[in-house]
Amino acid sequence: MIAIGADHGGYRLKTEILNYLKQKGYQVKDFGTYTETSVDYPDYALIVGNAVSKGECEKGILICGTGLGMSIAANKIPGIRAALCNDCYTARMSREHNNANILVLGERVIGTGLALEIVDIWLKSEFVGGRHALRVEKISKIEKNYME
Ligand code: RB5
Repeated sequence: MIAIGADHGGYRLKTEILNYLKQKGYQVKDFGTYTETSVDYPDYALIVGNAVSKGECEKGILICGTGLGMSIAANKIPGIRAALCNDCYTARMSREHNNANILVLGERVIGTGLALEIVDIWLKSEFVGGRHALRVEKISKIEKNYME
């Protein structure tokens, strides 16, 4: 199950991605927002981040105007590795090297065609592990140290 969420700045792209993923047969849970009325992006980063962090959803996608607010907020949640990707290479590497569990996109930064290609690549790419697993573990350790 993929969790998806956006603020008003990402609402239109969320709708496009939602339709695209459903067409491709993915199971998607839409956490809103459901209109173009102004809302606060941290609320959506929190609800999608929690769904992924608690294992209710395997991966997440967050969209706001730039992708910045969503990535900053989502990365505060323990266990979340949210990657803001504006290109296909970064999207692939965020999975292969960083084991990103949330993809973040900026609706006001990239076009729909590129966004859908990024989503596709990100969902198909796998974490390669090995030396990268040690580095991701070090990130978790930093997180744990601050939680104690
Ligand atoms: C909303 O205007 C905008 O600030 C938001 O979508 C996002 O870009 C924040 O980082």
